[in-house]
Amino acid sequence: MIKRDFLALEDWSRDEVDELLSLAARVKRGEIGGGLEKKVLAMIFMDPSLRTRTSFETAMFLHGGHAIVLEPGKGSWALETEPGAVMDGDTVEHIVDAARVLGRYADALGVRSFPRAADWAVAREDPVLRSFAKYCEKPVINFESARRHPCQALADAMTLREKLGQTEGKRFVLTWAWHPKALPTAVPASAALAAAGLGMEIVIARPPGYELDPEDTALIRRLAQQSGGEFVHIIDDPDEATVGADAVYVKSWGSVKLYGKPGEEAALRAGFRDWRLTPARLRSTRGGKAIVMHCLPVRRNVEIDDAVLDGPNSVVVDQAENRLHTERALLLKVIGRES
Ligand code: CP
Repeated sequence: MIKRDFLALEDWSRDEVDELLSLAARVKRGEIGGGLEKKVLAMIFMDPSLRTRTSFETAMFLHGGHAIVLEPGKGSWALETEPGAVMDGDTVEHIVDAARVLGRYADALGVRSFPRAADWAVAREDPVLRSFAKYCEKPVINFESARRHPCQALADAMTLREKLGQTEGKRFVLTWAWHPKALPTAVPASAALAAAGLGMEIVIARPPGYELDPEDTALIRRLAQQSGGEFVHIIDDPDEATVGADAVYVKSWGSVKLYGKPGEEAALRAGFRDWRLTPARLRSTRGGKAIVMHCLPVRRNVEIDDAVLDGPNSVVVDQAENRLHTERALLLKVIGRES
């Protein structure tokens, strides 16, 4: 049987994503139990997590399966990620071997690996995730890589549908926020791709120098057009960004252009501390009623003000809850009764 990886939302057709979302809604309504009995999910976290780890462990438990967590270098061997490495340093086991072995024990493998390469040209290819997918004989699920966070995107799509009803033609604003660190672009690119797939009007707001990877921007535009939506424009003013929005997705990300140049990137970012979702900016959305989204964890009063996060527009906890429902659906499709 050919294995089915879940590395990026756009790797699955629109019908397949719709099917996953319908299944997730049934799971959420309590209509489906079991389906993962005797199944094992191995989860490799090269980087920390609260939601991804907990929601996948819970999902496996709720359907009768089992989840194993490995944190390389902390209780399991430090993994070498470089192809062809002469392993005479600190790393003990190569991901080629780890992927092959875990594929013999588990029914699926989840991998979280943020960008590690020195150059964006390398990091953007998601080499660690792709190596696991290449060498593991079982399906690999992307738990967030340099380029994509499809599990978050699936939960975001479910939340947009639940909160907005018909999403077609509604305005989705992805807005950059200041953050003390340069974060990956996986979440913002994936969220915009998810909204584009729902036929929404996409607006991206970011300060100059914080453009997403050009291929991602082109893909967002193409998907929006294919889904009957639109890529409206790119805005570089945080006050203008939110005007008329139905959904505001707040997220910080690092400058792709200055990837690998942390000093220059930090200097550029320092000038944009004002990029924060405030109550005043929220009032400029359509009727002041836009839903406010964030993947979490969020830096309170840095990315989004307390008054907004704790107010009636915020759906950030619903997004986090929907991680569980969509991942239950995904596991049932990839290795369970629905496969
Ligand atoms: N949103 C998300 O992936 O959360 P964690 O980093 O806590 O898994």
